[in-house]
Amino acid sequence: MELQVQPKLIIHGGAGSSLHGKGGLEAVRRSLHTVVEEVYSLLLSGTTASEAVVQGCYMLENDPRFNAGTGSVLQSDGQIRMSASLMDGALGRFSGVINVSRVKNPIELAQFLQTSPDRVLSDYGSAELARELQLPTYNALTELRLQEWIQERHDNFKSTMASVVAEPELAETSNARRGTIGVVALDTNGKLAAATSTGGKGFERIGRVSDSAMPAGNYATEYAAVSCTGIGEDIIDECLAARIVVRVTDGMFLKDAMQRSFTEAHHNKRDLGAIALDANGAIAWGKTSEILLAAYHDGEQIGDTLEWTGNDELTSYC
Ligand code: GLY
Repeated sequence: MELQVQPKLIIHGGAGSSLHGKGGLEAVRRSLHTVVEEVYSLLLSGTTASEAVVQGCYMLENDPRFNAGTGSVLQSDGQIRMSASLMDGALGRFSGVINVSRVKNPIELAQFLQTSPDRVLSDYGSAELARELQLPTYNALTELRLQEWIQERHDNFKSTMASVVAEPELAETSNARRGTIGVVALDTNGKLAAATSTGGKGFERIGRVSDSAMPAGNYATEYAAVSCTGIGEDIIDECLAARIVVRVTDGMFLKDAMQRSFTEAHHNKRDLGAIALDANGAIAWGKTSEILLAAYHDGEQIGDTLEWTGNDELTSYC
């Protein structure tokens, strides 16, 4: 069967300050490549971009290595509150949940809300929706996250998790780390979608709202789609996902839109990263942080950014 459009896929598991240790790097690589392989095969078999990004998020939320779903970090009061969103580029439709607790896969709620007249729900409404959908109550806490929180409490919150959204060297001892997750896909019909999910930045105030369920952190049109990671406040201040997507929608090449947006973010001393696709199949990624945990399928092979230092370049593409 000849494909109408060659599908493309890029996913991320966070951005942060360091990636030390081969054991950590290879474990992250295995996790990300497994998701890319499975979701890309779905795209090849005709799954829509919107369904594919939900499935990718679902897999990443279920991997305790990443800070979304199972393995989410704890907030200042020791509770887990998760946020997730989905944007269907072809429909131009955003949906999401903010600070939802006791569900396994927040992205499922975001997906359900795509066809609802009320498309973004906060904590109370998300809990009501989960109850209406009869989703089983789920505890996303892992032993590692609990120990991290206890340690931070012990240190009187002196060291903040906010400066590190991905810390793969933790895998050397604990096989877990921090990091928002995101998936961006182009399907065989040339349609784009983006989905993003997070446990937040860790130790935040009760009620703090993440970028991951805002167009600042997750946005798509028929021309481009972007998912962000990093410090939510920095992403919101740059309105990064919408900024890149609008630039492409207005006629800029994805590569140039990424370069310009990341030059601005760097100038503004932001700590963030993003993955992106355009409707022509261009794949791009960028970061102002030191590392970006991303992997992609370019139609021929799987690649990743795990050893991409960036050096003087803030963005790259293929
Ligand atoms: N980017 C995830 C957060 O800051 O909540």
